[in-house]
Amino acid sequence: MNLYSKIKISRGSDKSSVKEKVFHQIGALCYRSTEKNVKVLLITSRRSKRWIIPKGWKVDKMSNRKSVALEAWEEAGVQGRVSDRSIGTYYYRKRSSKNDFLTCAVKVFALEVKASKKKFPERGQRRLKWVNPTIAIDLVTEPELKTVIKNFSGLISERSPALPQLSNWYMQGQLQKYKQNILGYKVEDSDGYSMSSLMKDYSNQQIADMVSYIKTFKPRKQLNMLHGDLENGKIEYQLNCMACHQENGKGNKQLHAPNLVGLSDVYIVNQLIKYKDGIRGSGNGDKHGKVMQLFAKNLKNEQVMKDIASYIISLQD
Ligand code: HEC
Repeated sequence: MNLYSKIKISRGSDKSSVKEKVFHQIGALCYRSTEKNVKVLLITSRRSKRWIIPKGWKVDKMSNRKSVALEAWEEAGVQGRVSDRSIGTYYYRKRSSKNDFLTCAVKVFALEVKASKKKFPERGQRRLKWVNPTIAIDLVTEPELKTVIKNFSGLISERSPALPQLSNWYMQGQLQKYKQNILGYKVEDSDGYSMSSLMKDYSNQQIADMVSYIKTFKPRKQLNMLHGDLENGKIEYQLNCMACHQENGKGNKQLHAPNLVGLSDVYIVNQLIKYKDGIRGSGNGDKHGKVMQLFAKNLKNEQVMKDIASYIISLQD
């Protein structure tokens, strides 16, 4: 059950109520992401002028991804990189004649926009708008499309850790924990809480797909934001962390200790505080989290955490 599927709207249709034949389409969630924010592209539909995303029929003998790129170009004049896999599906009712509707399932792909042209085939027939994901969620009417945008933006937003740096096995495990409510079960942990409510809608396959998609993002270099004491950070790191996360910070799969290099220092300190305060690592059956909790509890104060985090930042290439 997603957050919006209880809302009755005339055009959206709940998956469970789809009994008749479903027609398959493909759609593009076009986005741009910068250090500061994520924006997604909405367009208006030609007939009813409601806000939607570029979408249409898959072109015969053309791959889903190529068809997605083509729709985005024809309807919105944007070009870029299409995700290898779909990021979700939504349903809507398409008018086929005066009194008849078809039910369409739109398989949505993410398209990272690299170029946007002034001249394109359907120019002038629609309005275009770049908006924050939260606004996009408000503007679109189909409930599952709201969910697709919400899930996608949640995963690529600034509040998520530096996801591409995390290895597959670790990310899968963490996302599963969110899903099973082991992580993020405390309301104090607001980021964790929104992650977990988001992951509940995901099947294991969708989680695996998300992970492989996120892995294609280019990691960005983290800056030293906290300016901790590197000398002390090094000593404390070697004393308290190296046994599991290794001298180079790359982690140890056998011990289930993740790579730390490439995470931001602010994120690292926040996690250490969460472990120390028992907001992270206390979930039922979270044995790896509990191990980490013990070591976070060893740290004297927040300054030591900052020193260690700054030292970890210095381990980047
Ligand atoms: C005994 C092994 C061990 C030691 C020592 C250890 N860790 Fe960990 N660490 C882990 C494990 C296992 C996890 C995964 C925990 C989980 O699933 O929540 C983890 C997770 C983390 C995370 C969370 C990363 C993320 O993706 O959110 C951070 C940050 C971290 N450790 C930093 C440290 C620092 C800094 C130290 C030293 C003060 C340290 N760890 C000491 C085993 C260890």
